[in-house]
Amino acid sequence: MAISYDASRVTLVDHPLVQHKLSILRDVHTGTQQFRHLVRELAIFEGYEAMRDLPLESCEVQTPVAPATCKRLAGRKLAVVPILRAGLGMVDGLLELAPAARVGHIGMERDGVTHEPREYYCKMPRDIDQRTVLIVDPMLATGGSAVMAVDALRARGVTNLKMLCLVAAPEGLSALLGHDPDLHVYACAIDDRLNEKAYIVPGLGDAGDRIFGTL
Ligand code: PRP
Ligand code: URA
Repeated sequence: MAISYDASRVTLVDHPLVQHKLSILRDVHTGTQQFRHLVRELAIFEGYEAMRDLPLESCEVQTPVAPATCKRLAGRKLAVVPILRAGLGMVDGLLELAPAARVGHIGMERDGVTHEPREYYCKMPRDIDQRTVLIVDPMLATGGSAVMAVDALRARGVTNLKMLCLVAAPEGLSALLGHDPDLHVYACAIDDRLNEKAYIVPGLGDAGDRIFGTL
């Protein structure tokens, strides 16, 4: 039976450059250095889309030619929250887009047998509830890790929350969107399914191991 989820709450970032880079990322022959570089680049493309609704305010600028009424970012500030380890690979790209963003960390590890996540670390900026928060993790598989991260942030009062992954499984989208009715997810690809080890098929393997060279 097809797995269902609310597709209106998923933005597929499928720019041709994204699809090209994702194909290289998936390739089993792509080494750690290039893999890491591509994850960072893809995070920039995805972050660009995820920040599309940031509020603007008017400002006056004197150009070399004339005064100009322009726009600058206004209102709520950003925080990026990587799910360790693999999410770390997306942080630098997002900080290039939003250098003033704060970074919270949440450590999560899936059990090899049950595939259930276990939280082992959590450190958030004190004013996290005042910020628009982007949770980042390249892989959304069963959705268990993302659900746990969302719960940790909601418990800290975060209201404006988005999830950025590179590859999502339908199972993970269904679990995550079903769990949190206000969440929006960004993905570069939605793959076919999970295998018996709860790995995404075709996916790209173990993202953390490929980023950090711990294969
Ligand atoms: C991977 C991945 C996600 C999680 C996705 O992390 O980076 O955090 O699994 O799976 P889920 O949607 O089924 O929860 P992993 O637990 O392998 O840890 P790592 O990043 O340290 O390798
Ligand atoms: N975690 C990964 O890194 N890859 C998968 O396919 C599933 C979970």
